[in-house]
This record gives sequence, structure tokens and C-alpha cells, in this order.
Amino acid sequence: MYFGVDYYPEHWDIDMIDEDLTRMKEMGVNIVRIGEFAWHLMEPKEGEYDFSFFDMVIKKIKKNNIKIMFGTPTATFPAWLANKHPDILSEEIDGNKKVFGGRRQYCYTSKTYRDYSRKISEKLVSHYKDEEAIISWQVDNEFGHEGSDMCYCDNCHMDFQKFLKNKYKNIDELNERYGTIFWGQTYNDFNEIPIPKITITTHNPSLRLDWSRYRSFTLNRYAIEQFNIVKAHKGEHQKVTTNASGGFFNKYFDHDEQFKDLDFASYDNYPVWGGLVEPMPPEEIAMTLDFIRGLKDDNFWIVEQLMGAQGHDVIGYLPRPNQAKMWAHQGIAHGCNNMIWFRWRGMTKGAEQFCFGIIDHDNKNGRKYKEVQEFIRYMKPHKEIINSKIKSDIAILYSYDNVRSWRIQKQSSTYNFNDELVKLYRPFYRKNLNIDLIPSSRDISKYKVILIPNLMIVDDQLKNRLDKFLEDGGRIVFTYRAGIKDIDNNINFKETIPCSLREMVGARVEEIESLGEEISTEVRYNNEIFKAKVWRDLLKLETAKELVNYNDFYRNYSCVTENKFKNGKVYYIGSSLDNKLMDLLSDKIIEGLDLDIIDSPENLEIYKRTLNNEDYFFISNHSDKELEFKGNKIKPYEIKVEKRLC
Ligand code: GLA
Ligand code: ZN
Repeated sequence: MYFGVDYYPEHWDIDMIDEDLTRMKEMGVNIVRIGEFAWHLMEPKEGEYDFSFFDMVIKKIKKNNIKIMFGTPTATFPAWLANKHPDILSEEIDGNKKVFGGRRQYCYTSKTYRDYSRKISEKLVSHYKDEEAIISWQVDNEFGHEGSDMCYCDNCHMDFQKFLKNKYKNIDELNERYGTIFWGQTYNDFNEIPIPKITITTHNPSLRLDWSRYRSFTLNRYAIEQFNIVKAHKGEHQKVTTNASGGFFNKYFDHDEQFKDLDFASYDNYPVWGGLVEPMPPEEIAMTLDFIRGLKDDNFWIVEQLMGAQGHDVIGYLPRPNQAKMWAHQGIAHGCNNMIWFRWRGMTKGAEQFCFGIIDHDNKNGRKYKEVQEFIRYMKPHKEIINSKIKSDIAILYSYDNVRSWRIQKQSSTYNFNDELVKLYRPFYRKNLNIDLIPSSRDISKYKVILIPNLMIVDDQLKNRLDKFLEDGGRIVFTYRAGIKDIDNNINFKETIPCSLREMVGARVEEIESLGEEISTEVRYNNEIFKAKVWRDLLKLETAKELVNYNDFYRNYSCVTENKFKNGKVYYIGSSLDNKLMDLLSDKIIEGLDLDIIDSPENLEIYKRTLNNEDYFFISNHSDKELEFKGNKIKPYEIKVEKRLC
């Protein structure tokens, strides 16, 4: 098990490295991540490769018995490359080219960039393939982050037309499936097809979905090409990973495809960043960790664990004493089994002088150093349980096409897929149940409950698998707009919503309404009134029974239904409901199931892990208040690993 820091020796006087490494060792460090932005240092001039700096650094690291994760430096190309080949720079929707400075301004489609990336990666990885201290390569850094997943350049345009040509047998099929007859947009040839740059009103929804698919295709083509280059040149003992950033549902690439053949998933865990005045809520941090675990359905690394306040030009919230330590504990609870903190020492120069690390600019071992040191000491004895696999009875399914479709047409001004997924996740998280978050293509047979937020696009294959799940006694929860679209992002014709899901839902949607900003409506459940926002499906019962109805002009319509179907049950939630009602409905949804519910006060997360039939509980207090649990007082941001809850 590794605990370490992100270390940038190239940022400091080299005579500081020995003391740095000694202090790291004293803190409990046994791994450092280095190199991921140091392309110019390794290739100061085109074709002149020089690894002498890192040769020296690695020698010193090894002397301290510390291992290394080495980052390939393709996220930050040298100025000489941009100067010689400006075509590598990505382009904005308005035609503006990105300029050198910042990072990740490259176009994933650029053959020039792919070629230079190949060369530096081949040279670097070959140089260190026999270095036993390097146990893993991190390829690039946070693919697609900070808006780098989008480019509107001519390279991308021509490649997109090729992508379409490969996908559709001929232009007639594309016209038919796109419905280009609408507004006279029929194409005679693929070379007439635009990329959805700025236009008047809006582009064709099928074109926009294919463009989103293409963005994922070209980014993952670059990423997987880089993975394969590293695999071809690395040592047998060296693993390959890349680090996902947060905000994955806002990224234009399929993470499942990207991570498929990596040795393990890595994540950058920032519960708060930039100008945010407060952290993400505990359930959303938990959801992000479950998403990362879901990529390989296995334990994962956190290679950037937040410790200090972070921001580029604007800094935000200061993690309270022990709060960042608690977030680290939560990350371990949800499946992280190797952790690296960002960063050893905050840099004084460059764009991240306000991204505070463990050591601040005074270069002293302060509060954060002691917190990490305590944490490593506390977690080391729990190595076995930390490496145990997590088993969940509940899974949330997502599909990238569906997420893309919602990004293209959000239908309600207040709609946000991530928010709606967290809203569905939260009540089950609050019961301290383990939850998997996986693509809808995965096997679902091992679960008892499947939650599927806003699944507009349903193909027959998925529908049949859901049928089978119900046949086997499973329970499914759909939320609004389920089943309305086909795989071309078009509305199903001559079908009553929820279309192919209608029989299992046992109700039909007769009317729909988008509830915009500040608009909410009331719904009634067990004679209590609650709020509903964002959207509403007005449901008419068929074989289902009503759980919740609208408490306004549409009082004769249902909002939430329950339907016995085959050997299972199907719930349909026709609006975005407040947390209290979602808590009550979740009780109903899991009624009669043998699940390990643990009641705890708000903000007290209890995460169960099992090893050799023994249960362990990771207790994290997410609040700045003392909380009471089973007669025990849990201090603000306190963490505990308990063998039993007493
Ligand atoms: C990201 C990047 C790091 C650094 C940190 C700052 O996660 O991977 O290089 O920019 O954020 O918080
Ligand atoms: Zn491009």
C-alpha cells in the first residue's frame, strides 16, 4: 500500500531535494509522483532528449527507499513545438486558436501532436523501463479537463466527416436517420456536413450527438494510442494508469472506454476547488468515488488528494483542521487503496502559486503535514481491509449517449444530469448502503436494486436486460423522461411515453411540463405536501399504483408510481423531488429487501467493508459539529475504522 506526495523537484533549488525527501519519509511517504509537466526539461530542443535531471532525482528518491509514479509530459508541450507547428493548438467554437500558455491546449486529432507525443513518450519510457523504483506510469494528466476535450479546428472537421462516413453506409442513411429533410438540410455528400459551430437557432440533435460521440472517439484514440506506446516500451514491473479529474459527466469522453485496458484507475479527489465557497456535499463526493471505483469495478488510486485550499486566480474554501484528512478517509472507505497527496509544497511561481500543498510557502512542517502523518500512521494497520473488494446491492446506471443527449438539449433551464443523479443517489447513500455507479452496458444481475436517472435513450438490448432483471426479482427506479428517444437522439414515433418501458412501468405519460427557474409545484405523499421542480411527467396509471400525485391543477395525475412486474417492481419518479420525499420513497423502494441499512445522523457517513466475513466500518464526520452515534460522541471531522458499531 502506497502513501505519497506529488513532487516537482524541478520547481525548487535542487539543494532542497535531500531535506525534502527526509521530511517526506518522516511523514510516512513511500511513493512520489513526478514528471507529468516536464516535457521541455526532457526535450529542451527538438530531438535533443536529456533525462539527466530526473536520473539524478530518481537516484536520490531510491536512496530513501521511496517508489515512483512517473507522468508522461504530454499535457504541457514545449513552446518550441507550438511555435514550429501551430496546427497542434486547439480551436474555439468561434474560430479563435488557443495560444501557448496554460496547459492541454492541443488538438487530440492533430497528427503532428500525436507524432511528437509518441516520440517523447517512447524516449522517456524506454529510458526508464528497467528502473525498478518506477512502479507505474501515469499517461498525460486529466484528459479532457479544463475544457480541453473540445476543438473546432479543420483537422477535427475533416476527421469528423470521415468518422460519419465510416459510421453510415451512405449519405442517404445519414439524411434519413438525422431527419435532415427538416429545414431543408439534406446533404448530397459527407463533405457538406458541418461541425456544430455557431449558427442561428440550433443544430440538428442527431448531428450534435454524433459530434459528441466523435469528441470521445478522437480523445480516446489519442489517449489509448499513448497507453499503447507506454505499454510497448515499459518494463514488465511497471503498471499503466491515467488520472481522471472530477466533473466526468461534463466531459466529452467515455471514461469506461478510456480506462478499459489500464492496470488501475486513478483519480484526483478535490471536494472543493477554485472559487467554491463550500465543498461538494458528502453524498456528491461519495458518488464521485463510486464512479471511479466503477471504472474498473475495483480498488483505485487517488493520485491527487486535496490537502490545502486550491485555486488558480481565485482561491476558495479553506479545508478546516482534519477536514481534508476526513476526505482522504472517505476516499479510502469507498475503495481507494493507494493515496498520493497534491502536492508536497505549494509553488511560489507560475499559474498554481495559490494551489496550496501540504507544506506552505514558509517551507515549515505545519498543521497539514501533521494531519497527513497522523493519517498514514492510522491507516497503515488497516491495509488488509483497505485492499478488500467492495460489494454493493444497489447500482446506479448511466449511459454516455444519454448524458450527451441531456447536455445537447437540457429541456428545462434548471436541468443538470449530475444533480439529478446525486438526487437519486443521496437517499440510499444516507442509509449508508454501498452503491456502485456503472455504465448501463455492465452486468446488472448481481444487484437487488437498479436506479436509472433520466434514461431517455433506451435500446432493445438494454430493455431486454432490464426485463430479465425484473424476471429475477429485481427492483428498478426510473426517473422522468425515461424511454422517449432512439439512438439517433430522435423522439420515438407512434409510441406512448415511456415507450418500450411502458409495460414494465405500468403507467403512461399523458402530458409533460418543463419547470424553469424558480418554478416548482407541489406533490402529495401520504397526505404530506412536498416540492417538485425542474420537470414533471403527468402520469396516468395502467397496471401501476400511485404513490405520489400532483397537488395542483393536475391533481388527477400521478407523479410517482409503483408497478409489480414479472417477479420484480418498477418505480417511476416523474419529477425532481425534494430530499425528504426522496428519503421516504427510498424506504418504500427497498421495503422487504434484506439490505444492511445503518441509520446515522446527517453528515455522519458509515461505510461498511467486509473481509473474511468480518465487517469493518469507516466512520467519517463530514460536519464541523460533534455528532452522536450509538451513544458515542464523534468530534468534528473525526474519522474512525471500527470493527463493530457499538
Ligand atoms: C488538477 C491537476 C494538477 C493541479 C491541481 C491543482 O487536479 O491535475 O496538475 O493543477 O489540479 O489543484
Ligand atoms: Zn482539432
